[in-house]
Amino acid sequence: MPDPAASAPASPAPAEGLHRLSGGAGTPARRRWRETRDRLEASGRRHTVRGPRRSGGLLYRGAPAMARALWLAGLRDRGERNARAVVLEERSLELPGLPAAFDGYRLLHVSDPHFENIPGLAESVARRLDGLAVDLVALTGDFQHHWWVDPEVSARDLEALLAGLRIGDGCLAVLGNHDGAHLVEPLETAGVQVLANEHAAVGRGGQRLVFTGTDDPACFFSAAAPAALASAPAGFRVALVHTPELAGPAAEAGHALYLCGHTHGGQICLPGGRPVITQLTVNRHLARGWWRHGAMVGHTSRGLGSANLAVRFNCPPALTLVTLRAASEGDGPPQ
Ligand SMILES: [Fe+2]
Repeated sequence: MPDPAASAPASPAPAEGLHRLSGGAGTPARRRWRETRDRLEASGRRHTVRGPRRSGGLLYRGAPAMARALWLAGLRDRGERNARAVVLEERSLELPGLPAAFDGYRLLHVSDPHFENIPGLAESVARRLDGLAVDLVALTGDFQHHWWVDPEVSARDLEALLAGLRIGDGCLAVLGNHDGAHLVEPLETAGVQVLANEHAAVGRGGQRLVFTGTDDPACFFSAAAPAALASAPAGFRVALVHTPELAGPAAEAGHALYLCGHTHGGQICLPGGRPVITQLTVNRHLARGWWRHGAMVGHTSRGLGSANLAVRFNCPPALTLVTLRAASEGDGPPQ
């Protein structure tokens, strides 16, 4: 009697390096996403995970009054200096189930640069990053602040930021609520793979990391975002989302790691870094730093740039260099 296992075709080894698993320029999936995004953008409303909302947040409406108040209090210069004092945070992260080939994998998490809001930010941070070796750059949205900024300019700012890095596998990005659909093509021309409810993978030594990237759930949520998380191909799964608002569907779909931003950690915080405004519709308790949702570990970046009034208090802007480490199932959550 032949052994069925012996005659079964061996599953092909994952391709090496960074490559797409679904979607991409010119595909039907990308065209469907673009039609939905264009419709949501044209609606003039925020489409949140809890349904449509009126556009324009408290910070937008209150920014001019806040600027005057800070100027009168003599705090505006200090706030602007704080907003330029970017911190490069490093973290070793033990993850149960991480394929051995990715033990030591270095992932740079960059979120919310809002480039044009702080002139020269990309160049000054690039000088800090010059020569740094990373395997992958994960970009979680809000490359620009104002909708009317030429997307080619935002893409060039991103190129300037990343110019001195030594990047092994490549760059993956998702859009934020400040990013128009028109930003996708300039980013991809600049060599960044955008995931718009799509999947990609990095293969190494016959093993792979699978990335699910969704469209922004703060203003452009559609059912396609949780569907993309739910249909993530097999592998060690990592979710890239602009906000922490899809942590539940990502964890349920078996993602082990979730990287996001959007909140800027509060940007203007009480002493101790406690945020006053999170800009989240759900999951407000995941507004900053490292967290755990079920078996999934997440990170909400404080962001590289600043929104609206470009000032920060008790909440320094940050980039995060994460080194992935294989861990046993019994290891506890990150502290
Ligand atoms: Fe942002």
